[in-house]
Amino acid sequence: MIDFEFTEDHRIVAELARDVVNKYLKPKIAELDRSGAHDPDFISYLKDADLLGVCIPEKYGGMGMDYISLGLVCEEMEYVDTSARVIFSVHTGLNSMTLYSWGNDLQKEKYLIPQAKGEKIGTFGLTEPAAGSDAVGILSTAEKHGGKYILNGEKMWISLADVADNFLIFAWTDNVKKNNRDHSGISAFIVERGFSGVTTGSIHGKLGVRAGNTGWISLQDTEVPEENLLGHEGEGFKIAMACLDSGRYTVAAGSTGLIRACMDTCKEYASTRKTFQQSIDHHQLVKEMFAEMVYGYEAGRLLWLKAGWLRNIGTRATRETSLAKWFCTDQAEKAAYNAVQIHGAYGYSDEYPVERYFRNAKGAAIYEGTREIHKLMQADYLLGFRADKEVRCPLPAYEE
Ligand code: CAA
Repeated sequence: MIDFEFTEDHRIVAELARDVVNKYLKPKIAELDRSGAHDPDFISYLKDADLLGVCIPEKYGGMGMDYISLGLVCEEMEYVDTSARVIFSVHTGLNSMTLYSWGNDLQKEKYLIPQAKGEKIGTFGLTEPAAGSDAVGILSTAEKHGGKYILNGEKMWISLADVADNFLIFAWTDNVKKNNRDHSGISAFIVERGFSGVTTGSIHGKLGVRAGNTGWISLQDTEVPEENLLGHEGEGFKIAMACLDSGRYTVAAGSTGLIRACMDTCKEYASTRKTFQQSIDHHQLVKEMFAEMVYGYEAGRLLWLKAGWLRNIGTRATRETSLAKWFCTDQAEKAAYNAVQIHGAYGYSDEYPVERYFRNAKGAAIYEGTREIHKLMQADYLLGFRADKEVRCPLPAYEE
């Protein structure tokens, strides 16, 4: 049976997310964006509302909701600003959901529970100055000495780098495999901010998501206890890809929030702004732009909802998530581009939020798999060059 109805729980969690973001971020967002400032208090409001562990089971400190709920929260967050949704992408999607799948009991106790409760914030460190799409091109290393690994490397473009308490770091544990670009030489580690040799910094001058913190992490002879190895040695690349499955899902869902924001802002403007003696929403070429927004929103929503449903029933959804991420971010970029056009000269200034939507939408076509990576993945699935294998620690199905 295909059921297109949201449950009462879905409606309640979406409303909760809407209330929090409207109350605590919306009034400040224009100024935060203008000054490129991250508001640390916003995360504490998300914590107080229990939203940071929305889809993590109650026994691990979360709200125990399903994966559709996570998508709805992301849509509501990005309706106000992309920086709010990015918190869910890195903290919940890329980090906590990975600990939930791949963490052992001790790691869940020590790291997942505080993160699901929002007491600690997590992020993800795969990308490096010279390795983004080419994840096997990372250079960071982890050498084992007794009961510890010594990590060295630089991570770049990391959301919440200056904010997070815990980092998921990917590094080579096998030098021969590193030289051969054999991904089975990469491992994943849980690194705390307080570990020796960890320093972070923020990147300024970004085109968009200016109210979000983005930065770098430097690891200089960082000692990581062996119990902080996530999964087995050599499973790091697979863990990183599994992280990205969850992260990309949140990006896709969030992007439909940005499209909805474009539609609502433009509807209001176009119904009052007059040219040629009528409001501009009566002009056919303006209507065409609205029609394209509806097309992107409705089709994009179906794509991420399908990916969320597959997660709920415990089915791997790498292919569906990649398609949803590509389509939704593509459509968000188009919607924001048209939103500026509909606003004419006013859209070109920060008197209206559409120029912020336009700048914010660009990033999502780059991070968590560029548009080009997703096109290649989709072609490779179709052509039979790529197939999903069984994963050792899949994301657990939703249990009511
Ligand atoms: N889950 C589990 N295992 C997976 C998997 C998944 N989703 N995807 C692939 N694997 C496994 C495969 O089964 C394969 O296993 P075997 O070797 O045992 O067969 C192994 O991983 C290698 O898989 P592929 O052959 O598919 O790997 P590839 O080299 O072809 O991947 C790629 C190429 C798709 C381009 C991949 O490198 C990729 O997705 N690159 C983009 C990386 C990316 O999105 N980076 C952005 C990070 S976001 C960020 O850093 C910002 C922030 O703020 C946090």
